[in-house]
Order: sequence, then structure tokens, then C-alpha cells
Amino acid sequence: MSKYITYLKCSRCSRTYTYDEKPLLCLNGDLGRLDIYYDLEALKEFYNREYVSSKPLLSQWKYFDLLPPRHEFNIVTLNEGATPLVKAVRLSEKLGLKNLWLKDETRNPTASYKDRGMSVSVSVAKEFGFNKLVTASSGNAAAALAAYAARAGMEVYAFVIEQAGYGKIAQLLFYGAKVVKVRGLGKEDPTVKMMRLTYERFGFFPSPSFGPFNPYQIEGSKTISYEVIEQLGWNVPEWVFVPVGAASLLTGVWKGFEDYYSLGLINEKPRLFAVQSTGNPPFVRAFKEGQDPFNIRPWDKPHTIAWGLEDPYPWDGDAGLQALKSTRGHADEVPDSLIIEAMKLLARYEGIFAEPSGAASLAGLLKAIDDGIIDKSDEVVVLVTGHGLKDPDVVKEVVGDAPLINPDLRELTDVMLKHYGVKLNSS
Ligand SMILES: Cc1ncc(COP(=O)(O)O)c(C=O)c1O
Ligand SMILES: [Zn+2]
Repeated sequence: MSKYITYLKCSRCSRTYTYDEKPLLCLNGDLGRLDIYYDLEALKEFYNREYVSSKPLLSQWKYFDLLPPRHEFNIVTLNEGATPLVKAVRLSEKLGLKNLWLKDETRNPTASYKDRGMSVSVSVAKEFGFNKLVTASSGNAAAALAAYAARAGMEVYAFVIEQAGYGKIAQLLFYGAKVVKVRGLGKEDPTVKMMRLTYERFGFFPSPSFGPFNPYQIEGSKTISYEVIEQLGWNVPEWVFVPVGAASLLTGVWKGFEDYYSLGLINEKPRLFAVQSTGNPPFVRAFKEGQDPFNIRPWDKPHTIAWGLEDPYPWDGDAGLQALKSTRGHADEVPDSLIIEAMKLLARYEGIFAEPSGAASLAGLLKAIDDGIIDKSDEVVVLVTGHGLKDPDVVKEVVGDAPLINPDLRELTDVMLKHYGVKLNSS
């Protein structure tokens, strides 16, 4: 037995594995996710509120008992997690809500929540004896992976789509990842195909941020839920808003609340609200149409400013749908224009600068308020998952550039009026 992990079980064929078998993908080749099960009875012996409260929240590794790896000395960390839960005073007032909280995941080491999962993933790779990892992404997950691999002295091979922007590739290259662009051929995602082939041929550790190719990273996202509960003084909010691409984050957040419920640390679970962009809403469509969770129809031509949510196929959608069902949750799509509105509100009312994917959750809340789904007195937590500086192009598109003047007061008053609509009066 590995610490408290009893077994891993494939979400599709139910085949089980022990941690000692070092499982990565289901050997039946069905692309099921290997869900990790813990010995809750053994944990219940000591894992209570007093035990948790007695440790300071310095990073997500406060919750080591509920995470792989087995040995503490294999942990690869940059002090991810322990992010603030900000009481959104001005935004609450603006929206007419009583209790709005923002979980500010932009504060993580590489500026997105993906650090949590990649810290766990690289730690497990180290424990399993790997020193080469492979991923299929140019986004936040790959950036996080490259940083943690650098910290551990491991190599990263990153396959990215041909159209991947230089801004994202630059971060990967700088951390030392070997980045390769892959042409889009055929139906299968060409980067996922190369990741799979590389794993099969060269034996590299697959470390994307979705379940079927990496069961361990999902565990990192659970710690968001543990932290929220503790930061609310063991209160359970009515709603938690989650941005969704592959639905791995949603799955991890759900598992976190399930853990605490099963351990008797909380008596109820929050309702989860999944948000996608209208430019790519396959998960929301599956929820609304009641599609078969194991056969979610992919979105044909994803296109949204929220590039972190652009997965045409929600790899962990089966668990994501189960999460919504078991928490009486909900899912909705929002237009990119509302995501931009949410970005502005976060920045201008709360001083939090989020990227589009990170603000989509708030956009979902704006729509849910309009639709009358949220009660104004509900306690609501919004996950703000990634930093605005990740994407300077979007920023420029939204707010444009600053005007230029000579050092002259007359020009200042003119430009203030013209550019910002502000009339400056002499004192
Ligand atoms: C900032 C940000 N938020 C949310 C998500 C969505 O997570 P998931 O793909 O697990 O649904 C991503 C995924 O890349 C992301 O980068
Ligand atoms: Zn299987």
C-alpha cells in the first residue's frame, strides 16, 4: 500500500492497479482515467478538523496525506497552492450578492492553478524513477510542467499545435523544454497522438493535464477545495464556479469536496457550476442534452479568446458530468464578450488581473445571476484560475494602448477628455 492509496481503478473498464505497479494508462488501451482511491477508514483515525487546523497553510503539501507521492522526499515543489480566498467586497456590492469569494489562483508560481497538478505529477514521475516527461499542450499546464521539471532536473518534451503563439512557446523554451510543433493531420489531435507515440516508443512519463494520460495531476486540484473549506472556517459554500476545458479541474475540485465529505469533515457539498465559452461548449452541450458521459460529442471548430478552455473533447467529461449530477450542479456557456466584461470587473473592482480562461467562471456567475439561478444571499466561490499577463495580445485588444502627449497640462486635459472621458478641474 502506498501511504493511503489503496488502488487505482479505470473509469471505463474498472480494471484495478496498485500504486506499486506504477500505472500511467489503463493497459486495456481504452483511454479510461485511473481514478485513485484512498483508505478512508485509516485516514478517519486521525484526519479530523483539529489535525488539519493544527498545520499552517504554507503550500498545497499541507495535504500530503491525501496526495501522491508516497515519500515526502520525492515532492517537487515551488510552494504552489495556499492561495488567498478574497472576500470580494466591492464586486459583491456591484452584483448585489451577500457573500462572494474569489479563490485567487493567479498567485501560483507560474501564475495558474495548473501548478498544483504538475507539482504532484512531477513528484510521482520522480518517485517512479522517470527523468523524461512528455506533454501535449502549449498552455498553462505545459508551462507549469516545464517549471517543475526544471526544478527537478528533468527533461520535458512538449508537442504543440502548428498555430501555437510564440508568447506561449517562449515560456516553455525558456524553462528548457524541447518544444516541437506538429502539423494537424487527420481526426486525432496530432499533439496527443505524438505524446502517446512518444510514451509508447521511448517510455517517457506522460504529463498532460487531463486524466486518461495522467491520473496523478487531478489530485493537485483537490487541494483547492480543501483550502476553500478551511478558509471559510469549515463552512460549505452554496456554489463553486469552475471554468471548464477538459473538465479535469472540475473533476479534481469535486473529488476534493467528496474527500472531505467522506472523511466527515463537512456535512454537505457545494453545488458545482461549470462554465465554458460559446466558442467551444462541448461539455455544456453534453450536460444540457444528457449525452452519454463516455461518448461526449466533440466541438467541431473551437474558437474563443479563452484558449485554456479550447479542448474540443472534454477528456474528463465523464467524471465532470457525474460531479454536476451528484452536487445538483449546473453548466452554462458564456460569450467571449461577457468573459471580457468579467475580466474588467475583476481588475477594476478587486485588483485581480485574470486571463480570459481564468475569468470565464465569473462570467458564468454574471449569467447565472441574470437567469435567476443564484439566490442573492447564497455564499458563492469563484475560481479565478490564471493570470492576465499570460496573454498580452488579449489585453491590448480589450483596452488598447495609452495616448501620447508632450509634457504639457493643456494636452493632458484634452487627452483625458478625449481618451478617458474625464474632465479635469483646476483646484
Ligand atoms: C486558466 C485555466 N483555467 C481553467 C482551465 C480548465 O481546466 P480543464 O481543462 O481541466 O477543464 C484551464 C485549462 O487549461 C486553464 O488554463
Ligand atoms: Zn480500462
